[in-house]
Amino acid sequence: MCGIVGIAGTRDVAPVILEALRRLEYRGYDSAGIATLVDGQISRRRSPGKLGKLGEVLNSNPLYGHTGIGHTRWATHGAPTEINAHPHASAKVAIVHNGIIENFRELREELIAKGHKFQSETDSEVAVHLVTDLLDQGKSPKDAATEAVRRLTGAYSLAMIFTDHEGLLIGARKGAPLAVGYGEKEGFLGSDAFALAPFTNRVSYLEDGDVVVVEGPHVAIFDSAGRPANREIKITSASASIVDKGGKRHFMAKEIAEQPEVIGHTLSHYIDPTGPSVMLREKGVTQALATAPRLLIAACGTAYYAGLVGKYWFEKFARLSVEVDVASELRYRDPVYAKGGAALFISQSGETADTLAAMRHAKENGQTTIALVNVPESSIARDADIVVPTFAGPEIGVASTKAFTCQLSALAALAIAAGRARGTISVVEEKRLCSALLETPRHIVEMLKHEPKFEELGQEIAKARDVLYIGRGPSFPIALEGALKLKEISYVHAEGYAAGEMKHGPIALIDENVPIIVVAPSDALYEKTISNMQESMARGGKVLLISDKKGVAKAGKVWQAIEVPDADALIAPILYSVPIQLLAYYAAVAKGTDVDQPRNLAKSVTVE
Ligand code: AGP
Repeated sequence: MCGIVGIAGTRDVAPVILEALRRLEYRGYDSAGIATLVDGQISRRRSPGKLGKLGEVLNSNPLYGHTGIGHTRWATHGAPTEINAHPHASAKVAIVHNGIIENFRELREELIAKGHKFQSETDSEVAVHLVTDLLDQGKSPKDAATEAVRRLTGAYSLAMIFTDHEGLLIGARKGAPLAVGYGEKEGFLGSDAFALAPFTNRVSYLEDGDVVVVEGPHVAIFDSAGRPANREIKITSASASIVDKGGKRHFMAKEIAEQPEVIGHTLSHYIDPTGPSVMLREKGVTQALATAPRLLIAACGTAYYAGLVGKYWFEKFARLSVEVDVASELRYRDPVYAKGGAALFISQSGETADTLAAMRHAKENGQTTIALVNVPESSIARDADIVVPTFAGPEIGVASTKAFTCQLSALAALAIAAGRARGTISVVEEKRLCSALLETPRHIVEMLKHEPKFEELGQEIAKARDVLYIGRGPSFPIALEGALKLKEISYVHAEGYAAGEMKHGPIALIDENVPIIVVAPSDALYEKTISNMQESMARGGKVLLISDKKGVAKAGKVWQAIEVPDADALIAPILYSVPIQLLAYYAAVAKGTDVDQPRNLAKSVTVE
């Protein structure tokens, strides 16, 4: 998943391309580069590492020119070196690419046999030589670009500039997003609207197979058959002001602290406080939840864990059978879809390739697709039958925090609505559950007052080589999420387990060096979870218990304890997410890792 930008401008574009790339750094930051036309000739600056490094290169060796393209990379083929950094170029064309060209090996062999010399190890470079070969045959830039992309298989979005063609940009997309921006005198290409927000809020999204020719402010889009195509010009909501850290040390810290506000914002979309009662505004969602014989939920990473929590709620309150799957597995296991079933896809970015592909597979198999996304203009949102939003705001930290708790908040409301629609919960129960949900922000505010304690505990956790997280019921997915948070930002190995599973193997791991983090609200499963906790303590395990006042008191002596405000069992998974986020955050700070942009990761995984 990389970020690409193109500008057919009326000013020196390198500085503004760099600004746009900063907005795309969440897509990857292994290396970066910019190419422009200087007196009609292609000129490039590239650098391994993050955008700051490219900025230093440009400061010492400025790049001029009014037509340009830029790229920030998450390496798929070839190490993150300068030679593998985009843009890739020949004497005639420079190209930036997001995605994976699956048939690049045979194309590379064919082109080498024709005398083309490759510089890099990347799949992307084949596009350069394909286009160059066609230009050598006398084709126009548009025809060369169009013929070349027709030979590519896989997923790609591309932006190109051509020697001696000032003011010309050509773009193409198949399976990876590409937006066209309309300026007064300039034209733009970008991986998403957020990147183009400083230049324009008038944006069209290309569809699979489209090729776009941008000549200054003039845009011509052609569909997969080469016919002129009209793509709606949307006025986007993407904020022009790049988010800042709000005085915090990291975006992740800011986003953890924003949770009361954004959960409240999300709940206000789903709950009418006068009842309180649930109000689903999106057309068709109540009907889908009321009539579906089964609900499939699919997502990746943290969003998948949100789905696992949702399963408990849909089955408990709506008696709706739910199957939850990892999105990257769903379409390859030849699943049995329920006739007339509904399928819910959860994604913060709305661009995760595995989730998008899973949703398309479910749709092809007759499922009503519902997308729970944080970006309403995203690819997943555009392809779904129904979109139900979260309102977490831009989440810049690679580790998902506020998006996760907003997903849980929306899922709880959807489960209550499903229960009402299926007649499995009464108006009184709906009122009780909605009242509990509305208290969530207040409880989180309370917890955030104890950050110094979390910092101290995070420093302790940072010393461990391995950490186990355990929980039962809806706390089990929270244990999984806690383990993911810790490993993805502090690089400390961690695993989440159903507490009842400890005695079936993992307890062999226990010694005084392996902290066990026990997620155990004093609910119906508390006693059983505490028994599992004591089995571990009996073998020297160091237990950090996360529970409410009663649960902490009842558990007796443990290594460490975190007290979560007493609250309805419904919102426990949301509340208990905050301590596990803060433990991971402070462990990462103690380890000195790059909390907002951990190694090897990217915010949105737009490749399979
Ligand atoms: C979460 O902390 C991770 N960054 C990652 O697992 C993420 O949740 C996953 O890639 C799904 O992303 P999405 O919600 O944008 O689809």
